[in-house]
Amino acid sequence: MNVNGIGYRTVWLEGASVFFIEQNLLPFEFVIKESSTYIESCHAIRSMMVRGAGAIGAIAGFAMAQAVLASSENNFLEFISHAKLEIEATRPTARNLFYATEKVFNAAIKSREAAVIAAQEIANRDAADSQRIGQFGNELIREGMNIETHCNAGWLAFVDYGTALSPIYLAHEEGKKIFVYADETRPRSQGARLTAWELNQAGVPHAIIPDNAGAWLMSLGKIDMVIVGADRIAANGDTANKIGTLEKAIAAKEYGIPFYVAAPTSTFDAACPDGSSIPIEERSEDEVLYMDGVNSAGNREKILVCSPGSHAINPSFDVTPARFISGIITEKGIIKPDQQSIHQLLSHNKFI
Ligand code: MRU
Repeated sequence: MNVNGIGYRTVWLEGASVFFIEQNLLPFEFVIKESSTYIESCHAIRSMMVRGAGAIGAIAGFAMAQAVLASSENNFLEFISHAKLEIEATRPTARNLFYATEKVFNAAIKSREAAVIAAQEIANRDAADSQRIGQFGNELIREGMNIETHCNAGWLAFVDYGTALSPIYLAHEEGKKIFVYADETRPRSQGARLTAWELNQAGVPHAIIPDNAGAWLMSLGKIDMVIVGADRIAANGDTANKIGTLEKAIAAKEYGIPFYVAAPTSTFDAACPDGSSIPIEERSEDEVLYMDGVNSAGNREKILVCSPGSHAINPSFDVTPARFISGIITEKGIIKPDQQSIHQLLSHNKFI
């Protein structure tokens, strides 16, 4: 995607260094950072400098490749096995992370070069899949539609294009008049900060709405469709996505509004029979208690926004049962969220 006229991916590998857009600084500053070791790349994932399922997958693959390149002959397997576990411990929910570490690890058994090629392929495929998701999802978007989205499943959350936002970008480019409601997405405000920034860059008409406004706007008939991303999709179609997704899906069903999930096949986890076996990340209570932003003097500031001394609970994801989902937009087509369709998708057979 273009930022100030220059094309960027969110994360890329050059030699043994990973370069990435530091997402914690957006929308106030656009900064590219470098991590030269797999340990630094782990830190980038844990601290959410790189976040979003596809981008996490890409940097996890690159981190695995960095470990492979840093390993010596005498303890090769031991070193890269340990690194794999460290990378996988950074964030537990996004399936793409484990997909990437497994693929690069297996390639490393053949050669170091094969590991680097595998990591690059994962990133390239993520971008290509996102572009295809845009093409399939665009077929659902009609002139004049108002679309709600949650969190950030735009190009920042992937290597390029995004999932939930990819169809929106394509529809906008084709001249369809659409309007996007971006859920704020507390506590980290990925919607208010990242989705809104992306939509601004692309010139897509939009408004940020408080997280608790979605059901009300749906009841007023102001929303025609909801599209969200996914962090892990179980074999029966139950979908883990950013906390707050579930209540949007329930409200959409109540008001008869189509609710779509957009995700590449690398987000599906056939080993999870249903949503109850998806690990849900719990993050620090500080993310709820404090907010950071830019003050009137233009300086970054972190402030307490809750009752001093109170504690907070911060589950980072929820699971939307498949029955609330109208369809899953994948790079191979739009499928029903059920066991059979997902099995067919993952077996490279025909989709519905
Ligand atoms: O915690 P994050 O920002 O890494 O959240 C993951 C996500 O980006 C969202 O849940 C998104 O909607 C899924 S699509 C990448």
